[in-house]
Amino acid sequence: MTIEIRPNASAEVPGTEGYVDDAELLIPRYESVNPSEKYRAVTHLFPKVPSLVLDVGAGTGVDAAWFAQAGHQVLAVEPVSAFREAGIRLHPSPQIEWLEDSLPRLSGVVHRKKLFDVVLVSSVWNHLARDERGVAIAALGTLLAPGGVLIISLRHGPSPSNRRVFEVPIDETVNLASNHQLMLIASAETASVQLLNKQAGVNWSWLAFKN
Ligand SMILES: C[S@@+](CC[C@H](N)C(=O)[O-])C[C@H]1O[C@@H](n2cnc3c(N)ncnc32)[C@H](O)[C@@H]1O
Repeated sequence: MTIEIRPNASAEVPGTEGYVDDAELLIPRYESVNPSEKYRAVTHLFPKVPSLVLDVGAGTGVDAAWFAQAGHQVLAVEPVSAFREAGIRLHPSPQIEWLEDSLPRLSGVVHRKKLFDVVLVSSVWNHLARDERGVAIAALGTLLAPGGVLIISLRHGPSPSNRRVFEVPIDETVNLASNHQLMLIASAETASVQLLNKQAGVNWSWLAFKN
């Protein structure tokens, strides 16, 4: 009998459970979302001049491509290779660099010693356990340029059973951030713009922080 050992991102990166198996299904779903609709509640906080954007858990790079089209330079960080490869194929742009790295430590990004004007953590935070969120907020704080903005979205409502998803309280996130000199400057509640999530009753809290 032969036992097949498949490479499994979930064994390596906490939070990616289920994504490798579902990648084919998820890629068109991610691509169907319009970032200008998704980010409506916080768009006014984005820089009007070309800036450096860090997109953490970038999926297939829809958001990265939207920022690149607006003139920004984007570092798209994504641990799941199927998403990175789809992103490189679907959104080729000299203004997007892809990097395999992950929360909570983002060691590869931190190692570069670059600061970012916008740090996006969209639809990723709920994949981290409480202790990982503590480590992650510290790393994100060190990557934010003075006057930059950190955007974190929190998912509320049902989630697929094969993912690792935690319910994350808003006040916990605000307190964690303030421990690292990241002050809440805006918050909003929105319904999901992704059709299946919207039909399932998924809602989002959008939190914006400055240092
Ligand atoms: C729901 S998708 C969101 C994708 C994109 N940010 C968006 O808003 O459409 C969650 C993404 O987070 C990534 N992810 C999961 N765990 C992660 C971790 N520990 N560090 C970084 N990204 C992670 C997944 O691979 C996936 O691409």
